[in-house]
Amino acid sequence: MFLRVLHALVALIFVSTATSQLSQSARFIAENGQKVHGPDCDCYVVSGSDPGYFQHYRFWDFRHVPLNAAAASSYEFLPRVKVDTGAYGANARPVLLKDTPFANEWNIQDWHRDGSRLFPITIVNSDKNVFITKNPSDGGSTFLALRNRRFERYSSTAEIESTLRNFMHVSLRVRLRLLAKDESILSPPIEEEAVSKNQRVDAFPDALTLLPRNARRRPPPNGACAGIFTYFSTTSESDIEILTADPPNRVHYANQPDYDPVKNQIIPGAQITKDVPVPWTSWSTHRLDWFSGISRWYVENQHQTSLTYSVPTDPSMLIVNLWSDGGLWSGNLTVGESVYLGIEWIEVAYNLTSDAQRIKMRNKITDEEDEIHILTHPPSGVHHHPHGQESLSSPNIEKRQERRAPEEQLTKRGRTCKVKCRIDDIRFAGIPEVV
Ligand SMILES: *[C@@H]1O[C@H](CO)[C@@H](O)[C@H](O)[C@H]1NC(C)=O
Ligand SMILES: *[C@@H]1O[C@H](CO)[C@@H](O)[C@H](O)[C@H]1NC(C)=O
Repeated sequence: MFLRVLHALVALIFVSTATSQLSQSARFIAENGQKVHGPDCDCYVVSGSDPGYFQHYRFWDFRHVPLNAAAASSYEFLPRVKVDTGAYGANARPVLLKDTPFANEWNIQDWHRDGSRLFPITIVNSDKNVFITKNPSDGGSTFLALRNRRFERYSSTAEIESTLRNFMHVSLRVRLRLLAKDESILSPPIEEEAVSKNQRVDAFPDALTLLPRNARRRPPPNGACAGIFTYFSTTSESDIEILTADPPNRVHYANQPDYDPVKNQIIPGAQITKDVPVPWTSWSTHRLDWFSGISRWYVENQHQTSLTYSVPTDPSMLIVNLWSDGGLWSGNLTVGESVYLGIEWIEVAYNLTSDAQRIKMRNKITDEEDEIHILTHPPSGVHHHPHGQESLSSPNIEKRQERRAPEEQLTKRGRTCKVKCRIDDIRFAGIPEVV
């Protein structure tokens, strides 16, 4: 039965690929391990009360990454119809995300911020805290881990930011789980380093870690905050935040600013705390829909809450992070303790602003990004690649692009949407289906 459905799906996909040469299509890995093109979608519809749609779509799948540096260095993070488990055995090693092609589309952060009166603990982002790993004891699939470790002098934190900074309305979904305090995963070593020139620190070695296994799982250590948000500035962002100090089903939703520093109080209507149906200690999909005039939040596609206050109107980037700064919001992690945020996949349906000039002034954008993501009127001979690196490495799509006349590109970029695809209620995560 499963196979028949699968064959029908693959057949359907080939037919739609053949009949619609002009559209962009995402790729995925079929059951036989071959890379194939998904349906040629002109736009992507999301579930929920808004009939709106998005022009672009991306899905990064962390569930089948080879835990081997050489193999992972060209890995494409495509979704699969069949989830692989336990393929890497005793030779599995954690892979830093910076050493994979994911780093072309997301920047792994390494900035730091000194402690202050309100946020006493210095935070230091490290690319060693963002890696692909697995739990060696359960034979499961791989996942992306963000780590926050508290050292004596600072908090070693993790943050990834999309290289695209001109998102204008998104439906962003992250399938996540905060790992238990005593859960064993493969993790790369990290040591405390001097944060200023005059400081000397004692090493805090951590060889390839296998924490002790414990039948009784405990929640993660208190004192860290996991964030998933759109960001333009501290007063223009839409957030999902999880505090490890909370009970494991509590989630905070906000449009910034949610705090009035003059009155020293929370701004009414700017943030909502919800107890969600699935605790964040279990795999579940957290979703933020940023639309014009309204932000909506979902867990497992069940609507949790909406806000119309201070909905962002600026071109934004996407950020996922895990941090602790000793402030009132995150609290303190105990020295020596670590919190891990596991992520199975990241999915985003999105529109981009076409206001290239404005973005150029705000951000330093490389020529390549400019060509790939910003141009709305590509001169003939310049390929337009809304899907970035993925398209660049696909000769198939290059060829199709060449056949597309500039006027047709503009039509697709404009209002028409002939082939609508849905990204919810589909058979395989990350493989949209024609409506
Ligand atoms: C995305 O862009 C299309 C084309 O401009 C527009 O019709 C649609 O409403 C936009 N979607 C959202 C959610 O803003
Ligand atoms: C965290 O610890 C620092 C001292 O290391 C302290 O100054 C701060 O008040 C603590 N934060 C909280 C929220 O208790």
